[in-house]
Amino acid sequence: MKNIVVLVSGGGTNLQALIDAQDSGIIKGGKITCVISSKPGVYALERAKNHNIKSRVIARKDYPDVEEYSRAILSALDEEKADLVVYAGFMTILDELVVRAYPYKMMNVHPALIPSFCGKGYYGLRVHEEALKKGVKLTGATVHFVTEVCDGGPIILQKAVEVKNEDTPEILQKRVMEQAEWKILPQAVSLFCEDKLEVRDEIVYIKD
Ligand code: GAR
Repeated sequence: MKNIVVLVSGGGTNLQALIDAQDSGIIKGGKITCVISSKPGVYALERAKNHNIKSRVIARKDYPDVEEYSRAILSALDEEKADLVVYAGFMTILDELVVRAYPYKMMNVHPALIPSFCGKGYYGLRVHEEALKKGVKLTGATVHFVTEVCDGGPIILQKAVEVKNEDTPEILQKRVMEQAEWKILPQAVSLFCEDKLEVRDEIVYIKD
């Protein structure tokens, strides 16, 4: 069984999707063993508690810079013996020292079809505001491996979602979560835990 450590910063609906998938047996070969939050008091921590999952708060505000914060996260991941690290609405960019310690063992869910609407500054509702401003007719979600390049790592899974005329950023965010994020994140986690993901030349291949 692989140890899955989930990093969160907010409401944790993607964490909930992972917990639900785990409870219904969709995630094979792995178990969520710890949730780490970059903020105290967020609802994601309640979700972990409700399901008897260990949680830790490593608050970004308690550290003077990204490097020191990243070292604290790295030692927690090592202590938890993480086999897979999942960014589920984790809003803090970590120093590459973490990525280097967990190569192709960290994945992130992003609420757009990468390479659109991604990179520094594109997070949460902002992503959907920009998609609506541009007038795209399709958007969606992407699960990718985390590398030193923000939102630039190898793509694992993507799912497209329709944009409608009357959408607000909030309505679009909800549709992208329901139709894409909450589906592809548990799928990607399960594929990893079943050793079905292979990365060659920065491309992910899914084994049968
Ligand atoms: C999700 O839409 C996730 O894709 C996004 O933040 C939201 C967190 O919601 N992440 C990013 O924008 C990262 N660049 P949640 O806390 O309810 O899972």
